[in-house]
Amino acid sequence: MLIAITRDVSSSLGGCELSYVPRGAIDVTTAAAQHRGYQKALESLGCRVMALPAEDALPDAVFVEDVAVVLDEVAILTRPGAESRRAEVSSVAEVLARHRPLRALEAPGTLDGGDVLRVGRSLYVGQSARSNAAGIAQLRDRVAEFGYEVHPVPIRGCLHLKSAVTQVAEDTLLVQPAWVDPAAFAGFRRIEVDPGEEHAANALWLGSGVVYPACFPRTQRRLEDAGIAVTSVDVSELQKAEGAVTCCSLVLREVP
Ligand code: GLY
Repeated sequence: MLIAITRDVSSSLGGCELSYVPRGAIDVTTAAAQHRGYQKALESLGCRVMALPAEDALPDAVFVEDVAVVLDEVAILTRPGAESRRAEVSSVAEVLARHRPLRALEAPGTLDGGDVLRVGRSLYVGQSARSNAAGIAQLRDRVAEFGYEVHPVPIRGCLHLKSAVTQVAEDTLLVQPAWVDPAAFAGFRRIEVDPGEEHAANALWLGSGVVYPACFPRTQRRLEDAGIAVTSVDVSELQKAEGAVTCCSLVLREVP
């Protein structure tokens, strides 16, 4: 059984951090409805959704992926790169403590979970404005005893590594080559996003298929042509907050 930790949309979502997406009006009511649709998609793919209440003082708190890196053996609490997001960690930590031993990153390290792509025992970590060398080194230190290797990966032109590359099947990655060098993932089967769909590389793989934004039909076709089952969700208002489908949950295996 998979557990998906989510957090309801903050009423202050419009005041979120933005790095590569221009600020525009966000309809929070629609964002909340889309988020419920996302939770339903997670349930349809076998997740037990644990929904935390909104943190209205923290605009980006819906993007729970950034505050932890959850492995089967341990959960690493991050120190998010945006100062405004650091207070998001504690309430997620309370929930994670019921499921995993916890380790924490500390200053001067910064790291966003959106920069961490786990494939097997490899953790690929984006060298982004949010995740610095100290944070990446601390992550390596915290996971080494469990047999994980950390591989820093340069990115350009996007917020997080998982803006540029995500796993979509056991051996397959979905890649935006404009933002990350595909050569960093030479051993994998790779699907590139359609050139007209810049933000299309973020998919949430849940074993039997992916949860995927409805607004990238041409890349969706590429996924389906590769035999990948796609559950489509409309997350347009969350995308205006520079969010994507991986950002809105922390998915962990229920360990007996
Ligand atoms: N708005 C998402 C982030 O910048 O962290």
